[in-house]
Amino acid sequence: MSVLPILRWPDPRLAQPCAPVDLGDMAGLATLVGEMFETMYAAPGRGLAAPQVGHMLRLFVMDCGWKEGDMTPLACLNPEILEASATHVPGDEGCLSIPGVMAQVLRPDWVVLGWTGLDGTRQSRRLQGFEARCAQHELDHLDGMVTFHRLGAADRAALEADYLGLAQ
Ligand code: NI
Repeated sequence: MSVLPILRWPDPRLAQPCAPVDLGDMAGLATLVGEMFETMYAAPGRGLAAPQVGHMLRLFVMDCGWKEGDMTPLACLNPEILEASATHVPGDEGCLSIPGVMAQVLRPDWVVLGWTGLDGTRQSRRLQGFEARCAQHELDHLDGMVTFHRLGAADRAALEADYLGLAQ
């Protein structure tokens, strides 16, 4: 197991859609998932998507409560939103690939997330609050989207200019 380097925006890989995970090599996937958790906890963060560590696969890990002592690790292979609240709510989102930036993003209040677990079975769960937000943020990464893509043009231009200026 090792901590993997995290790609930073505007690395072009963060703007590319990812391919479905081939479930034929669960041992290999378990190793990658273990490294992704280790990388996420070390960062420290609450969610990490495979493209953020250079693996262009539809896979993310999250653990929304660990910083408060409530460990709830979740590894989602080939995740999808099965149902979403019609009501959208704003919330602040950071991203390990955009250090130092908090963006206020509007998202559905709750979602029903479907995914394949490391045991190979298809699962689904209704997520709300920060967990719903985190899962949607990580799923965006698999579609080549970061928080900047969820902002209006003016907000994005201002935040991204700040970020790129600071990153230089
Ligand atoms: Ni992110």
